[in-house]
Amino acid sequence: MTEKPTFYITTPIYYPSAKLHIGHTYCTSIADSMARFKRLCGYDVMFLTGSDEHGQKIEDKAKEAGVTPIEYVDGIVKLFKQLWEELNITNDDFIRTTEERHTKVVQMLFQRAYDKGDIYLGKYEGWYCVPDETFWPENKLTEEKTCPDCGRALQRVSEDAYFFRMSKYADRWLTFIDEHPDFIEPLSRRNEMIQFVKNGLEDLCVSRTSFTWGVPVPFDPKHVVYVWFDALVNYITAIGIMDNPEMFKKYWPADVHLVGKEIVRFHSIIWPIMLMSLDIPLPKKIYGHGWLIVDGEKMSKSLGNVVDPIPLIHEFGSDAIRYYLLNDIQLGQDGNFSRKRLINRINSDLSNDLGNLLYRTLSMVEKYRNGHLYQGDPTGDEIVRDASAEVRHHGEETLAAFRKNMDDWKINDALKGVWTYIRSLNKYIDITMPWALAKDENKKATLDAVLYHLCEGMRFVSLMVEPFIPLAAEKMWNQLGLTDFAKANYNDLTWGGIADDTEVHKGDPIFPRIDIKEEEAEEEEKVIKEPHLPGISIDDFFKTELRVAEILTAEKVKKSKKLLKLTVSLGNGEERTVVSGISEYYEPSALIGKHVIFVANLKPAKLMGIESQGMILAASKDDKLVVPFVDMPAGSRVK
Ligand code: ME8
Ligand code: MG
Repeated sequence: MTEKPTFYITTPIYYPSAKLHIGHTYCTSIADSMARFKRLCGYDVMFLTGSDEHGQKIEDKAKEAGVTPIEYVDGIVKLFKQLWEELNITNDDFIRTTEERHTKVVQMLFQRAYDKGDIYLGKYEGWYCVPDETFWPENKLTEEKTCPDCGRALQRVSEDAYFFRMSKYADRWLTFIDEHPDFIEPLSRRNEMIQFVKNGLEDLCVSRTSFTWGVPVPFDPKHVVYVWFDALVNYITAIGIMDNPEMFKKYWPADVHLVGKEIVRFHSIIWPIMLMSLDIPLPKKIYGHGWLIVDGEKMSKSLGNVVDPIPLIHEFGSDAIRYYLLNDIQLGQDGNFSRKRLINRINSDLSNDLGNLLYRTLSMVEKYRNGHLYQGDPTGDEIVRDASAEVRHHGEETLAAFRKNMDDWKINDALKGVWTYIRSLNKYIDITMPWALAKDENKKATLDAVLYHLCEGMRFVSLMVEPFIPLAAEKMWNQLGLTDFAKANYNDLTWGGIADDTEVHKGDPIFPRIDIKEEEAEEEEKVIKEPHLPGISIDDFFKTELRVAEILTAEKVKKSKKLLKLTVSLGNGEERTVVSGISEYYEPSALIGKHVIFVANLKPAKLMGIESQGMILAASKDDKLVVPFVDMPAGSRVK
């Protein structure tokens, strides 16, 4: 037997300082879908998640609650595990940084870096963000002394500390990044990180002395190891760097560390440099996903808009939540969580498109063929023959494109392709009209072929949607009369796999429609009914001068939630300033260097005191907005 290829994927280990919200749920759902996908491709998958339990934040929280740190985290970690169970997360291990298997690795590695001369004693004078557990030297801060990442107040810190010689490895890091163009994805984050290192990499403070909740520095136990130096190591602890060399050899280097964009820096700069110092190979990829905001606002306790996934799972089911997060949020970009859109997606994609297809088809199999499927013969009817060939061909193509998209981390495209196929199966019913075929004794074989093609198509669908909606996928599989769902995989998925005379088992609809409350229904109507504008002549259209513009700089407009101030180049040294209402959808840094379509002959207008000299085109629907990027030189005319 040949050995299976391996795939090692991780999520961040979340802080058990509070229970998890929809943002964490988003990240873990992505990772789980990828893990499930790879298993179905035949990989030996190792999928790790866990909890990051040391540090000042946890110690403070426990104090506030009047319990010991370990009591505090024990309670919250239980809730983590409960959430992952309710969401059908298939992690192979759950690592807690307070476990002995982990603390001994941290100490071993700290000692190793020290012995090598990469850790030295000094004094840290500067600032610290407790919620982010991040050091901020004076020169990176403004007067206000707030965290440049999260905006919260910083603490002044002055204490003895060990430092890690990051600076020593800056050149080696830059060379590595150069030689591994896919190491940091998406690309915008890669550029940010390169800039960060080129601006000068300072040595990192890696121990604390002003509190005790951490792993003691082995040779100087007044110090505890800085929580990030401790946390990052979890990825190699869990696969046995100390205890299980065979497992370690099998899974390391990790295929991907999936993380939120705010911690890409820790994973793509600090972690690789730690590994360089320790002579351990680097992971293959850091993927930085975007942030979820809620109805247009950042989630925060003070705003009271933190979305708890558990009640949502209880209300709509875990599959629906997973599907919504993976389909509706563009991977890599920030996205907006909206209950209305969640309900719309359930009703349209899951209930209407997918659920109805299954229910309708199996009802016909029961009604016309007493619940039995036969291969039949589509060739007796020209329309059915052609449509059936197309259903098969499209099914095979969809599977191939799906696998390619998933491998390329284009999850949204992968899902879109599957749903296009589902909709085409519904159309196939309309085209072939099985109810008409059923009336004609001579069309029995044709009718059988139609029902068989529908079920075969759904068998493909069932396996393609398994990574996202595993419960529904298995129900589909079983209702189609198939067995051994757990053994199914993409490599064996070839057309014609349903045996002749298979008996189906129709059940209740797999996704009942959600009743939409009145105000939500109104919203839905509005979207559908958005009217087209009156017609214009081509001359009218050409009065608009559209050009490709390159975004040179981008920053948030102070005191505005929606506006970004941009400067763009129209080529030939011509620059414009524009104010654009896209701040809720794009991080300024993600826009720099992008080429967009620009209205160059708009009369200037003042917005928030800034003169805007043009407009960037964007597509928007409901609460989504996308700026199309084009790969053409600045100044190109768009017609
Ligand atoms: O940073 N939208 O833990 P953490 C999307 N312990 N994802 C979000 C999110 C949001 N609004 N909020 C959080 C830590 N996340 C460290 C990690 S790893 C060695 C140590 C997700 O509890 C996102 O994946 O603050 C983000 O990176 C992670 O939760 C941060 O979780
Ligand atoms: Mg955080």
